Amino acid sequence: MAEKFLFILLPYLSAAVFLIGVLYRFWVWGRTPVPLRIVTTPAPRTRGGVIWRLIGDALWFPSLFKGDRFLWAAGLAFHILLWLVLLRHLRYFLYPVPGWVEGIQTLGLYAGYLIPIPLALLFARRLADEKVLYVSILGDYFSLFLILAITLSGTLLRVFFRTYLVEVKAYALSLVHLQPVIPQVHWLFGLHFFLVLVLLIYFPFSKLMHSGGLFWSPTRNQRANFETRFVNPWDFPVAYNPRNLWPPEKYHQALTESKEGKKE
Ligand code: HEM
Repeated sequence: MAEKFLFILLPYLSAAVFLIGVLYRFWVWGRTPVPLRIVTTPAPRTRGGVIWRLIGDALWFPSLFKGDRFLWAAGLAFHILLWLVLLRHLRYFLYPVPGWVEGIQTLGLYAGYLIPIPLALLFARRLADEKVLYVSILGDYFSLFLILAITLSGTLLRVFFRTYLVEVKAYALSLVHLQPVIPQVHWLFGLHFFLVLVLLIYFPFSKLMHSGGLFWSPTRNQRANFETRFVNPWDFPVAYNPRNLWPPEKYHQALTESKEGKKE
C-alpha cells in the first residue's frame, strides 16, 4: 500500500502540483499590470537586447556579482553543480542514452559529491551575517536542507548502499511511459526519490520560484525606451498624487473659505 502510494500515486501527483503550480504563478505574474518603466538601468533598448540580458542574468547572476561577491560565488557554484547532477540523472529517463549525457557522467558524479560545500556556505552565510539572519525565514532553511538531504541520500546510495540501477531505470521509464510498476529497490532509493517529490510539491509555493520569476521581473524584462511617455491607465495611489490628496475643488473651497474669513 505504502509502496503503491510512493512509487505510483505520489510521482504523478507531485508532477501535477509542480506543473500546475508553476504555470499558475507565471499566469499571476503575467497578468499583473506594469504600466510604467521601472527597468534597472543601464538597460537594453531592444527586445533582443532584453532577451540577451535575461539569458545572462539566468546564467551568471551579474547583479549579484555587483552586490554580494560571496553570495554570487556560492550561489553560482551551487547552481552549476546542481545542473550537472540533474543532467547526469537524465540517463535514468532516456533510452537510448544520448552521447552527451554519457559524456557528462563523471562530471555530474563529482558535482554531486561537491554540492554540500556551496550548500554549507549558503547556510553559514544566513547564520553569520546578522542582517541576513534577521530576514531569513523557515522556508530559506527548509530549501537548503531539503536539497542537502537529497544530495546526501543520493551520494550514500552511490557509495555505500548500492541499489540495482537497471531496476531504477526500468521504473523511471515506466513512469515516463505512464505504465508505472513498483520497483524492487533499496529503501534508501525510496527515501531519495521521496525527498525529490517533496521538493517538486514545495517548489511552486516557495522562494525557489525565483528561477522562473526572474523572467517576469519588470526591472529586468523591460526595455529602456524612456522616450515613450507612459501614462498610468488608472489613477495613482493617494500617497503619490497630490491631486488625490488635495483635489482642485477642495482647494478652491478652502481658498474661498479663507478669503471670506479674512473679509469678516
Ligand atoms: C532534485 C533532484 C535530484 C538531485 C539533486 C539528486 C542528487 C543525487 C546525487 C548528488 C547523487 C549521487 C551522485 C550520483 O550518482 O549522481 C544521486 C544519486 C542517485 N540518484 Fe539522484 N537526485 C535527484 C533526483 C533523482 C531522481 C528523480 C531519481 C530517480 C530516478 C534519482 C535516482 C538516483 C539514483 C538511483 C542514484 C544512485 C546512482 C548510482 O548508484 O550510481 N535521483 N542523486
